[in-house]
Formats: sequence, structure tokens, C-alpha cells
Amino acid sequence: MMRAVADSPLSQELLDRIALLDPERVPRHVAIIMDGNGRWAQRFTLPRLDGHRRGAEVVEGIVDVGKEIGVEVLTLYSFSTENWSRPKLEVAALMQILKGYLKKMVPKMQAKGVRLEAIGAIDALPHDVQKTLAWARAETAAGEAIVLNLALSYSGRQEITAAARAIAAEVAAGTLRPEEVDEPCVARHLQTAPYPDPDLMIRTSGELRLSNFLLWQLAYAELYVTDTLWPDFTTADFLDAIRAYQGRERRFGRTGEQIGGGRGATRPGMGDEG
Ligand code: IPE
Ligand code: IPE
Ligand code: MG
Repeated sequence: MMRAVADSPLSQELLDRIALLDPERVPRHVAIIMDGNGRWAQRFTLPRLDGHRRGAEVVEGIVDVGKEIGVEVLTLYSFSTENWSRPKLEVAALMQILKGYLKKMVPKMQAKGVRLEAIGAIDALPHDVQKTLAWARAETAAGEAIVLNLALSYSGRQEITAAARAIAAEVAAGTLRPEEVDEPCVARHLQTAPYPDPDLMIRTSGELRLSNFLLWQLAYAELYVTDTLWPDFTTADFLDAIRAYQGRERRFGRTGEQIGGGRGATRPGMGDEG
């Protein structure tokens, strides 16, 4: 997993930090609420859009480091259902930033083995953005190094509601029995079905809330909140979060003694180990 320096786009300093991690306890799935773009811009009395632009630039480095340490899925909260209520101009600009990001990044993602995916109400996005997104997904479909999963027009409650509706339809059609509706069945009907649940959820800019993000999937994620605003969030900050995660004891309802008393997040099976 850890490649020689010569193959890596990462600085020696970053590689040294990575070497401090426990390779056995790398989160498989990291979810991030990229918050604070507006406040960052405000700090420099810049328009909010400059914050969003700067925020988009931060993503590449985080993906590179995630890939380097062996994270399998990185889910980034990029636009919530509730964000549609922002001023029209800001929404429009966010959509164009997204489109521009995809156009610019697809060749790099292809070169790095990054597979772009998306969850959320994709059909609510402007048509041109939907087209670019579909193109980006197709162009990167062969990527095997890491999944970059963008949550776009995403709402955890809507996702769960849609799953309930789909399950109800199957029951009504007679293809599913009510007693077969268990937790794995619900999980299979979520848009995140192909991925393990996030092990670690990072939120930047200090807000202590979920803002409707992955409500089902975060049930047992470790939470890490930093006051750093997203445009200021560095790859070193990301590695700090991973280190903090590795220092956590994940109990999944058991006692510390049952876990073994030792510190450090275990690499999770789906809660079914021993
Ligand atoms: C996060 O930054 C980006 C999106 C929600 C699209 P914000 O725009 O929410 O920044 P703050 O919270 O106002 O600082
Ligand atoms: C959450 O941030 C959504 C994204 C980061 C895309 P918000 O800034 O929209 O969240 P609230 O409104 O402060 O909870
Ligand atoms: Mg915000």
C-alpha cells in the first residue's frame, strides 16, 4: 500500500507522517462534511464563492492522501438538499464549480485510479451538471485505487425514505416478505449499498451537528470535528484526524474489557467479529 517515495506525488514530510500510522487500522470509509467555505471567505472579506472555489481545490490532496494510506471510500458532503435554499446565485455558482471541478479532474482521476461516484438526488441537479457527472463516472469507472463519492443534493432522511418506499413497493409486488425486511435489507436499498459504513466522519469549521448527512450509515462512525475551516484543511490535518481515529476504542456496545482494553480503532468487520 505504501509506495516508494519516487512514485508518490506526496512530500517527504507527508510520507513521514503517514509512516506514523498503523496500517492495520486505517478507516475503510471516511466521510467528510466540508464546511466553512463562507466563513473562510468572510475572513478575507471575499465573496462566498471564492471560499467555495478554494474549498474545491482542497479536495485533490485529501483524495491523494486517502488513497496513499489505503482508504477505500471517501464520501464528501458537497451539496445538501437544504443547500437549495441558498441564494440563487450561490447555488448556480456551486453547480458551475462542481462541473468545472469534474472537467478538470477527470484526467487526473483516471491517471491516479480514482473512481468518481455520487449519491443524492442526482436528477435534481441542472442538466448540464448531470451530463458532466455521468461522463465523469463513466470515464473513471475502471479506477480501483479509491472511490471518491460525492454527496450531491443529498439528504439522509430522503435517502432512507426512498429506501422505505422501494421496500414497500417490493413487498406490495410480492417479491419481498415483510419478515425479510431487516437491517441488511434496508442497507441494500440505500445509495451507499456498495460501500461499508463510514468508520470516521470528519466535520470542519466546528459545527457539532450532522446536517442530515448519512443518518443511517454513521450509526457507529467515530466523529472528529475540527475548528479549521474547509479551505484551510490540509493533508496534515487529514492525517491528524486519521491518527485521532486510530487512538479511539471502538466498542460497538461492548465493554472495554471485551474489546481487549487496548486503545486503537479496530479495522471493522461489519460488527460481526468474535
Ligand atoms: C460548505 O461551506 C459548502 C457548502 C455547504 C456547499 P459553507 O458555504 O456552508 O460555509 P459556511 O458554513 O457558511 O462558513
Ligand atoms: C452541510 O453544511 C452541507 C455541506 C457541507 C455540503 P451546511 O453549512 O449546509 O450545514 P448547516 O446548515 O450549517 O447545518
Ligand atoms: Mg456551512
